[in-house]
Amino acid sequence: MTRITDRTAHLRAAGVSFVVELRAPLPRILHWGEDLGELTDEGLAALGLTADGVALNNSLDEARQFTVWPTEADGWSGTPAHQGHRAGTATTPRVTMTGAEQSQDALVIGLHDADAGLDLTLTYRLDPSGVLGVHTRVACPPDASGTAAPYDLSATTALLPLPNRAQEILDFTGKWCRERSPQRGPLAFGGHVREIRRGKPGLDAPHLLTVGVPGFGFRSGEVWALHVGWSGNQRWLAERLPEGAGVHGGVLGGGELLAPGEIRLGPGDSYTSPECFFAWSDEGLDGLAGRFHTMLRARPGHPSSPRPLTLNTWEAVYFDHRPERLLALADTAASVGVERLVLDDGWFLGRRDDTAGLGDWAVDPQVWPEGLSPLADRVHAHGMQFGLWVEPEMVSLASRLAREHPEWLLGPSVGLGPSARHQYVLNVAHEDAFAYLLEALDALVAEYRIDYLKWDHNRELHEAVHRGAHGGDRPGVHAQTRALYRLMDALRARRPGLEIESCSSGGGRVDLGVLARTDRVWASDCNDPLERQTIQRWTGQLLPPELVGAHVGGPRSHTTGRVADDSFRLITALFGHAGIEDDLTARTPEQLETLTRWAALYKEVRGLLHGGRVVRADLDDDATQLHGVVAPDAGAALFCWVRTRTSVPAQSGRVRLPGLAPGRGYRVRIRTEAGLPSVHQITGPAWYRAAVEDWVALPGTVLTGAGLPLPTLNPGQALLVEVAPQTTAH
Ligand code: GLA
Repeated sequence: MTRITDRTAHLRAAGVSFVVELRAPLPRILHWGEDLGELTDEGLAALGLTADGVALNNSLDEARQFTVWPTEADGWSGTPAHQGHRAGTATTPRVTMTGAEQSQDALVIGLHDADAGLDLTLTYRLDPSGVLGVHTRVACPPDASGTAAPYDLSATTALLPLPNRAQEILDFTGKWCRERSPQRGPLAFGGHVREIRRGKPGLDAPHLLTVGVPGFGFRSGEVWALHVGWSGNQRWLAERLPEGAGVHGGVLGGGELLAPGEIRLGPGDSYTSPECFFAWSDEGLDGLAGRFHTMLRARPGHPSSPRPLTLNTWEAVYFDHRPERLLALADTAASVGVERLVLDDGWFLGRRDDTAGLGDWAVDPQVWPEGLSPLADRVHAHGMQFGLWVEPEMVSLASRLAREHPEWLLGPSVGLGPSARHQYVLNVAHEDAFAYLLEALDALVAEYRIDYLKWDHNRELHEAVHRGAHGGDRPGVHAQTRALYRLMDALRARRPGLEIESCSSGGGRVDLGVLARTDRVWASDCNDPLERQTIQRWTGQLLPPELVGAHVGGPRSHTTGRVADDSFRLITALFGHAGIEDDLTARTPEQLETLTRWAALYKEVRGLLHGGRVVRADLDDDATQLHGVVAPDAGAALFCWVRTRTSVPAQSGRVRLPGLAPGRGYRVRIRTEAGLPSVHQITGPAWYRAAVEDWVALPGTVLTGAGLPLPTLNPGQALLVEVAPQTTAH
């Protein structure tokens, strides 16, 4: 809903208001956050009147303003909205509004910088979920003087104001096998700046930079958050200056991190920034997650078919690609109920280990003398989908491609820079390399009727520069990122049913840019359920479960060496797009029976898990977790009660199940298909003993108001609690 007067634009959706006063020379942001309701002209005028703070001692002579394009020109001493120069001149942007247009959900503001000769278009789009997307286009008019130096754009930063009460910050870091590790603390004065120079968001990506009123939790608290929807280098910040930001307290900001000289705009050239997604909620972290999940689920391209139970071969066979071994694995997978088999790394020319082969996207006849057809056909004959691992942006020096086309490597004019996992990066923006990749991938998809590509990206970009005749060592990450998007888009246009997973050494490329053209992410190479509980919990802060790959590994984790019970591994993998990453041919008949029951359970509950609201309880004991998914009408739910380690409190006491309706009648039972957890107690609670056997009727007031005592589990155990409406007969 938009209301715009000749002075003020007011976008409203799902309890969020965004108000901009369209005054000359530059509009200012009056409000972003809580819905202000239907504002009359008087209401809007009052908001404008109260947007002036005080003129401070020893400061500007007038009250500071927070404009839509904060720069030094309006006395803003924080991170500017835009920086650049023309051969060392035009260094201080001085933009003025040229016009504004509004539609139902968007506000587009035209700006002009006379000094730099630039036209800027600033677009705010308020999604029906309440998420505000912001991006900017910077253009150099075609008629600009041909003699003028190009405009070197250093940065554009989408900036939105935060109130003074937002003083606690939460964002994420991590490493291989420990993605999305939360870090939280006070938001001090100055900038909390995250600069990503890895050519991808990285295993330590900020993921969702959140600032809130201190003490915010999953279920309560006022929070403001930012996600930079981009797969290349990027910059995220939360900044507080003592003088504030106009009448506001601080800012959230994001954009692409550009290398010096990376974007040079000549006449007719333009640059479009990545979309930055801003969200506000007064219902804590679950409120924010809910907005993002709603937005993503409403996309026309969001996966709509039931997410197929997947078997990925990596931890099952690694590079041991004996066809008979994989055929047996496919047969066993089909027998337990797997619906998609993905052949991981090791199938292409020379790829006997990770030192060779990347770039040669043709089947290795030494391991697959008849090509992949025997396996693909067997998989399809079982009614399963067939998936294949690729890493298109990478190249091994030991490959035909590197020998024949050394000029396609992305690297400096002198030397090659450091290798990582023995590999280098292909310049996908090189027209011929792009064409080669598109044809090679397309041919594979066509020949083997591939339903799914696991698209990996196992190294960071260092010295990612273009070399050769068109200028030595020009920064290349921006072009590489755009070329990746073009490549995925072109392949999908040719093969409309094809699904793609974004993998990057696990969860190193989890962003809404790549997710606009992929169907899920691989959250982590760590299948240890203890680590996975945390990784999935926080990946879910942005992404709904159906977009997050979650696999059951073997009993002993390949990446941590820790042994976990079957039930804990199975229950943990249920809360995502579930799969298996294990050599099933080595499992006992009893283990396969359990897997088969679990596979059927996944198929039964995936409708709920992949369409409901994710809820996470705020608990006093951080050695325990309670999370779940509640149906949109709050009529049903599946909860997971987890103990990660021992703790002093001997029992949980009454725990409130979040997200249910207090006024409704429910019944509850324990799902035992994946097995029951071991416990650190003699018996009880009474309802639990009964619920293991059958449904137990419990009203919403007890479940969500008074709370339910939960059994004291041993560390590394989980329990599945199902909630259904009381009225349904059973
Ligand atoms: C990366 C991925 C793994 C696997 C290997 C194969 O590490 O994250 O899942 O595909 O590559 O080499």
